[in-house]
Amino acid sequence: EKGGFDHFMLKEIFEQPRSIADCLRGRLKADEGYLKLGGIREYANRLENADRIIIVACGTSWHAGMVAEYLFEEFCRIPVEVEYASEFRYRNPVIKEGDVVIAISQSGETADTMAAIELAKSKGAIIFGVCNVVGSSISRITHEGAYTHAGPEIGVASTKAFTAQLTVLAMMALQVAFKRGTLPLTQYNQMLIELETIPSKVEKALQLNDQVKYISELFKDARNFLYLGRGYNFPVALEGALKLKEISYIHAEGYPAAEMKHGPIALIDEEMPVVFIATRDKSYEKIVSNIQEVRARKGRVIAIVTEGDTVIPEMAEFVIEVPATHEALMPLVSVIPLQLLSYHIAVMRGCNVDQPRNLAKSVTVE
Ligand code: F6R
Repeated sequence: EKGGFDHFMLKEIFEQPRSIADCLRGRLKADEGYLKLGGIREYANRLENADRIIIVACGTSWHAGMVAEYLFEEFCRIPVEVEYASEFRYRNPVIKEGDVVIAISQSGETADTMAAIELAKSKGAIIFGVCNVVGSSISRITHEGAYTHAGPEIGVASTKAFTAQLTVLAMMALQVAFKRGTLPLTQYNQMLIELETIPSKVEKALQLNDQVKYISELFKDARNFLYLGRGYNFPVALEGALKLKEISYIHAEGYPAAEMKHGPIALIDEEMPVVFIATRDKSYEKIVSNIQEVRARKGRVIAIVTEGDTVIPEMAEFVIEVPATHEALMPLVSVIPLQLLSYHIAVMRGCNVDQPRNLAKSVTVE
């Protein structure tokens, strides 16, 4: 059942080239300029004409929502708010008739996310679901939606469901951008082509497994970890930190790299591993200076970089090279070594990676 892997988590990490391809299947044909999410039909114009989008989710799904915020704002020019479902539901949020809500949930059973949906629905919002489990409660109470089609996720730590969520959300944003005319056609077509290459890039990123395992051995006894990223890689930093804490029980924090100066920098000394997600994008120069700041305080830098980077290897203790892609799709690739890092560290520490203590696969009570 684990297909020759020691744990479901590892099997699911390695399934990602296929699960992402499954998610794209029938929805994207880049050479024909074709992109269509079949589940969004009747209410498609509500999404396309939304004045704003509210995304509700918890945990890893909330991280996918953070990436979606950047996608929808950049490509569709629609303002987006990403909310923890638990906070949203209890704070008397402002929701107007016709507001659009996107609810993201792997299990489709998360209690807080369901309650947030019910609340928004009662105020007249249109709800789109992004769920993995077909026929789940959330998929039934939403107006429309798109399944992630990642297949059953058994490991408690979400991996392939996350990348499938990112894939669906990228398709959603591109479909809306096309209809709104907010993305020049050449760029739109380029994005479709780029999206189609993601499974093979993820496959390539998985070849880093041995290198990541080697690094894991050196850091497995660390007591803390910091994860830093900017732009599209900021939510990846949050996700990397969550993966590490939930399965290895090492305290880890994710931050936008620039926020380091506003507090976390005080923690940096020669015992602090800092994982930078520093692939080539608009904020590259900025993150390079953040790496220098950490080095100046003797922090131990592990950097995820784009293949061929010649600058960061000069300053980081370890660099992990991932294939290049458009920055908006980079989270799909840059998260892979972080999933592997948390997995190997947890295994080396003797943790039960598939069923970490105190956690459940679906959180059906608030
Ligand atoms: C993290 C993890 C949790 C879930 C969260 C939301 O690896 O699995 O943080 O992401 O409980 O669950 P869903 O997506 O099922 O609503």
